[in-house]
Amino acid sequence: MMQTEKSDCLEQVSSAQNNQDLSNVYDHWSQEYDESVISFGYNPPAVINGLVGRFVPSNDANILDAGVGTGMVGELLAILGYTNLVGIDLSLGMLERAGKKQVYQDLRQMVLGEPLAFTDNEFDAVVSAGTFSANHAPPESFDEFVRIVKPQGFIIVTIRVDVASYIDAIQAQIDTLEKEGWCQLVEHSKPFKNIPLVSETATIKAFVYRVLRDS
Ligand SMILES: C[S@@+](CC[C@H](N)C(=O)[O-])C[C@H]1O[C@@H](n2cnc3c(N)ncnc32)[C@H](O)[C@@H]1O
Repeated sequence: MMQTEKSDCLEQVSSAQNNQDLSNVYDHWSQEYDESVISFGYNPPAVINGLVGRFVPSNDANILDAGVGTGMVGELLAILGYTNLVGIDLSLGMLERAGKKQVYQDLRQMVLGEPLAFTDNEFDAVVSAGTFSANHAPPESFDEFVRIVKPQGFIIVTIRVDVASYIDAIQAQIDTLEKEGWCQLVEHSKPFKNIPLVSETATIKAFVYRVLRDS
């Protein structure tokens, strides 16, 4: 794939109108995704890995990678010794690429923002890199995260912060969950460019939330 075609995929991702469109774009991009985003200087998986190492030190931790894509997060977590990884994504093409890396125990098609087919308290942590972005995972995704993560477990995510309508909606959702006692912000990074070699404006922050409820 030429550099212009890779940028076309990025453009199509930003302009997708619904989950079906988005899934089609990622299905198409999946074969070249890793090569593309590496050429963009894409860094969220590395930042998420640093935070998992700090907050979820046990290599046995049961970790859900939400919006797993081609498995770039799991690939790095596996190098650090994490063995209990599950990934979900709406794109079957991306899931298929993730499977080839052989670092996930389970990979399933699920849609963030809809009910997730996991039991309460199933995970020690949910992680997500690059998926909380405009027209990607919606704010309601967090309602399911606080349900499926054990009390005292962690939600470690990057969120796009330069699109005001998106970050405002996410923040409102999380504020409500915090007020209701479901979770608490523990740490956030500085804002940083997530594809610095191709965009001066795309900016994200990494956030760490602790899940608080008792049962
Ligand atoms: C930018 S990619 C990031 C993939 C991977 N986490 C990484 O860092 O390379 C975003 C991924 O989120 C998935 N995605 C977007 N919206 C989603 C949703 N509502 N539910 C599930 N997956 C979604 C896409 O299919 C895509 O694989």
